[in-house]
Amino acid sequence: MNNNSQLSTLNSPLVLVTGGTGYIGSHTVVELQQSGYEVVIVDNLSNSNIEVLDGITRITGIKPQFEQVDCCDYQKLADVFNKHKGIKAVIHFAASKAVGESVEKPLLYYRNNLQSLINLLEIMIANNAPNLVFSSSCTVYGQPDVLPVTEDAPVKPAMSPYGNTKQIDEEIIRDTAYSGAPLKSILLRYFNPIGAHPSAEIGELPIGVPQNLVPFITQTAIGLRKELSVFGKDYNTPDGSCIRDYINVVDLAKAHVIAIERLLENRAADKVETFNIGTGRGLSVLELVNIFQQATGATLPYRITGRREGDIEQVWANPHKANNVLGWTAKETIEDTLRSAWRWEQKIRRQ
Ligand code: NAD
Ligand code: WQD
Repeated sequence: MNNNSQLSTLNSPLVLVTGGTGYIGSHTVVELQQSGYEVVIVDNLSNSNIEVLDGITRITGIKPQFEQVDCCDYQKLADVFNKHKGIKAVIHFAASKAVGESVEKPLLYYRNNLQSLINLLEIMIANNAPNLVFSSSCTVYGQPDVLPVTEDAPVKPAMSPYGNTKQIDEEIIRDTAYSGAPLKSILLRYFNPIGAHPSAEIGELPIGVPQNLVPFITQTAIGLRKELSVFGKDYNTPDGSCIRDYINVVDLAKAHVIAIERLLENRAADKVETFNIGTGRGLSVLELVNIFQQATGATLPYRITGRREGDIEQVWANPHKANNVLGWTAKETIEDTLRSAWRWEQKIRRQ
């Protein structure tokens, strides 16, 4: 926490982090604790495991409070607020996030991602906890007409049930906040989070074959996968492969701390604010593959294959609003970020 902050007069504000043992959630818990916040994690462990708590504790020296609860279970979630008095702010990460799975199991995604948010909002309002930071995604922009994309770019028809849940969740939050209910929210639209904590104590733990690029790269370089398939080299981009904005997960985590502080200090300019959280730099798949090999010295077998259905050709953030209004900027280099992902991969395979 900023020493000059009005919050320094408060005693360790208590923040509820749903999905706090997950990839982005665990890194955010670390940053919250290191900024002086007390944290309660709610997670049903559907896509993470309990040992993450030990990793967090090894980094910060503080074991976060943990409740194994499904946010879709209204009563159990309400009980968390009854048990941990004084929760004033929530960061809501808990959601199902696999795009392909959402196409196969849309109802699972609609139930998990909508019902958990609706429960949470009702319970927050009933418990006088009016501050919400919500995990949204650049997926709401689809293929933007103008790049880099700003927050006022139109939301495009969703390409998957997962993407649709993020759009609907944003609308649910706006409708609730503007209904006059005691709710303020900051929606953070993440671009492509990658990397791991520099300590290699926590990182991404994909279950099964990774769908995302960087875990597939590190698993291939370590020998778990034969080769990386680069999905398409015939896009309208300089080298023909898709372009994304890869954001370091610790930088991303820090944006949440700033957002929480802004809400708790009543500095938000509106009941709902939206920010792009990206670097502002687009990198192609082939560029990323080359940087990974140069930065780590690892060899990465890869082959160009056909396009992956549903992929956006190119998207990267205009992060100026986050830079200027939040005072947040992505700091880590892509080389350090890829090295952190590689160290994490090496560590988990040694265990
Ligand atoms: P993750 O799967 O690692 O973390 C989500 C956590 O939520 C997991 O620990 C899971 O067990 C938990 N969870 C899921 N449903 C739950 C429920 N009903 N009740 C309690 N816990 C539940 O995912 P992540 O990558 O850390 O993503 C966090 C958030 O950020 C998600 O909302 C995701 O949609 C969003 N997001 C992720 C990315 C990305 O590329 N990783 C990009 C944009 C947005
Ligand atoms: C990145 C690039 C692939 C794997 C997804 C979700 C999005 C958001 C972030 C949550 C693409 C290419 C990948 C591989 C490859 N999540 N690729 N070979 O698709 O940008 O976004 O995660 O909100 O909603 O859709 O991320 O990491 O899957 O792919 O060539 O084996 O890498 O084609 O260009 P994506 P990704």
